[in-house]
Amino acid sequence: MVPAPPKVLTWFLLLLPLMTCCSNIAQTHGKALIKIRKDDGGSKKKDHNSTLVLVVSVLLSGSVFMNVLLAVASFFVAFHLNPKVNKLVQPNPVASGINLLVFTYEELNKATDEFKEHLGSGAFAAVYKGLLPFDKDNGKSIAVKKLHNLVSEGDQEFKAEVGAIGRANHKNLVQLLGFCNEEQHRLLVYEFMSNGSLASLLFGPSSSRPNWYKRIAIAQGTARGLFYLHEECSTQIIHCDVKSQNILLDDSFTPRISDFGLAKLLKKDQTRTTTGIRGTKGYVAPEWFRNMPVTNKVDVYSYGIVLLEIICCRRNFEAEAEDENQMILSDWAYDCYHYGRVDVLVKNDDEAMNDMKMVKKHLMVAIWCIQEDPSFRPTMKKVTQMLEGTIPVPIPPYPSSFISSL
Ligand SMILES: Nc1ncnc2c1ncn2[C@@H]1O[C@H](COP(=O)(O)OP(=O)(O)OP(=O)(O)O)[C@@H](O)[C@H]1O
Ligand SMILES: [Mg+2]
Repeated sequence: MVPAPPKVLTWFLLLLPLMTCCSNIAQTHGKALIKIRKDDGGSKKKDHNSTLVLVVSVLLSGSVFMNVLLAVASFFVAFHLNPKVNKLVQPNPVASGINLLVFTYEELNKATDEFKEHLGSGAFAAVYKGLLPFDKDNGKSIAVKKLHNLVSEGDQEFKAEVGAIGRANHKNLVQLLGFCNEEQHRLLVYEFMSNGSLASLLFGPSSSRPNWYKRIAIAQGTARGLFYLHEECSTQIIHCDVKSQNILLDDSFTPRISDFGLAKLLKKDQTRTTTGIRGTKGYVAPEWFRNMPVTNKVDVYSYGIVLLEIICCRRNFEAEAEDENQMILSDWAYDCYHYGRVDVLVKNDDEAMNDMKMVKKHLMVAIWCIQEDPSFRPTMKKVTQMLEGTIPVPIPPYPSSFISSL
């Protein structure tokens, strides 16, 4: 994800073994010279040879030295004169093992053309499109996220959190490329996702809706990304704001989870619900509202809601629903499952209508994910396995059946 080193640097690195090889030859000549002089001082011919060897050696060593000098000099000249190469390309290790680009505010101001193209705003940030200046020809597009308020005012805490986000690297995650950490400005720089958010695809015009099979692939990719964050990442990350706006689609419509790791960077009161609760209304797990520990099962709950949205191509809450019973998607979906009318959920979707077994399987997984009791919800690993068909999906209980035991 970190851009390739500039071409001149690559040349220099390629030249290095060659130059080392040349200097070895010179050293070999040097050593031969000393040996000859010690061996025989009487022979004129040998004296003559020795002088020749000495002259050749001096010339060779001199030329090698000049070559090295020239290569180093041309590297520095090219590095400073080439307008495509500037300090943006120099990765800066924030934590061991990761290289994130460190930007100044001015550099990002330039990269976004003074924050001209506004991609959208959420509760705690505004996002702008940009182009990395050293790669104008090939255009490495970026999304620059301006964070409004942060919990960790300290430099070290911010860097630690950003480091954890940067270390997470999986094909189903939006990769963090770098950041800006100045007193007044905290910005995060991500890969640009050309196909927008899952929410805009699912709930936008019907012509933009991914078909049933693409939706299945999106559901599986998202589950895999969350499984990685929970169990495979070096620092475990609970997302805390899984929702269809935070699932973005890249050039090939691969789902990429965004905004993971942000929960820790935000101030406590930056929520849309009750103080202390992270996440977005409609997607938040019930334990946020009860005095219960928050675990990675909060993400499983939110994923279950997203899965229902993916199956039905509708928002988790619709005030304008045909029928009052259909307003809350999770209630309506469970009713349909319970009464054996899963088809009603996908009635306008021919491909899904012809694949009812799979629709039912996905619905059952979703119902497991939205169980009120977090311990009843499967892990994201199990969810992935059930969706991929490596383990069967047991009959799910009614989501609120165990509410009294909480
Ligand atoms: N890497 C990216 N590439 C392309 N578009 C992006 C990228 N990151 C965010 N966006 C877009 O920017 C917009 C704002 O994103 P942001 O994460 O700030 O808000 P949100 O996720 O919609 O809402 P919230 O802040 O409430 O979670 C969204 O419409 C999103 O699609
Ligand atoms: Mg977001």
